[in-house]
Amino acid sequence: MSYIEIRNIFKIFGPDPKSALELAKGGADKDEILAKTGNTVGLHDVSLSIEQGETFVVMGLSGSGKSTLIRHLNRLIDPTAGSISFGGEDILAMDIQTLNAFRRKRLGMVFQRFGLLPHRNVMDNVAYGLEIQGTARKEREAAASKWIERVGLAGYETKFPDQLSGGMQQRVGLARALTTDPEVLLMDEAFSALDPLIRSDMQDELMKLQAELHKTIVFITHDLDEALKIGDRIAILKDGKLVQVGRPEEIVLKPADDYVQAFTRDVNRARVLRARSIMQDPANQKIIDQEHPVVSDDTRLEDILPIILATGKDISVIDERENLVGIITKEQIVQSLSL
Ligand SMILES: Nc1ncnc2c1ncn2[C@@H]1O[C@H](COP(=O)(O)OP(=O)(O)OP(=O)(O)O)[C@@H](O)[C@H]1O
Ligand SMILES: [Mg+2]
Repeated sequence: MSYIEIRNIFKIFGPDPKSALELAKGGADKDEILAKTGNTVGLHDVSLSIEQGETFVVMGLSGSGKSTLIRHLNRLIDPTAGSISFGGEDILAMDIQTLNAFRRKRLGMVFQRFGLLPHRNVMDNVAYGLEIQGTARKEREAAASKWIERVGLAGYETKFPDQLSGGMQQRVGLARALTTDPEVLLMDEAFSALDPLIRSDMQDELMKLQAELHKTIVFITHDLDEALKIGDRIAILKDGKLVQVGRPEEIVLKPADDYVQAFTRDVNRARVLRARSIMQDPANQKIIDQEHPVVSDDTRLEDILPIILATGKDISVIDERENLVGIITKEQIVQSLSL
């Protein structure tokens, strides 16, 4: 069983969720249900398994159900039907006290509009989570200081949110979410309001942190490039339904339908595809040949291309145990990039 298990979730908004639920279960889609019943389908039979330690990205167009999905994970809303568990524990069965403790201790949240407390300085914002858990000032400030430094804001402890840029405010939001050492980080469009360069920095920062922390991160975005960059796996929603779940390469190489295909059309393939997704069986080559450049199987094509161009040679691909697992020819790389 995976760490977070979402099973057959339906969420219907409106005056009569029950009858709309029956229609939805009978196969009616969002538009039809709205026309017939005046109810809005937020999520339609969504099942997902999210592994501990993975960065799981949910993407889709506006109104596809992304925020609705993440709000089920902190139980800001409850499903019309379906079940959700964390580590085998049914979160829908939690009473209010257990739920509050679950939110405070096990979840960290980062939102698009930073959600900082305007009358508290950086230190007090970052220490806030521990403060409401009743941690003594000295202890919580020590923990907060560590994260303030880690996100690059040392020296800004006594500044107030309105004295910081958007990117800095979002760093405060990230530090605040991490200070309680949560198991799961929920991030809804956390970087979407930032300027492109700052946004890219924040993505890098998050990936660097995640390489050390191995949190379970559920990250929502409507931006495919962001999803492909930071996601270990990506789920794509359309009209409340899950249309595809897969690793970035799978989404780009095998889009499930026209909707996903439309998202992937302008993607920089060289950045997304890795050696392992295009390499050929090294059938006629059993050992690593000193003549050929060697790359690991998770090397991106954008890093392989210059090697091929500089050497004119085929590339040997090795796995983490340094076994030869594939070869890549110049023809192949050209073909995969101009598909
Ligand atoms: N509280 C609510 N009451 C009624 N309808 C709602 C409510 N919350 C969401 N919806 C509807 O559910 C659907 C999914 O909305 P949701 O906010 O999850 O989309 P989203 O993918 O997060 O979109 P965005 O990218 O614009 O944030 C939409 O049709 C929306 O109108
Ligand atoms: Mg949303």
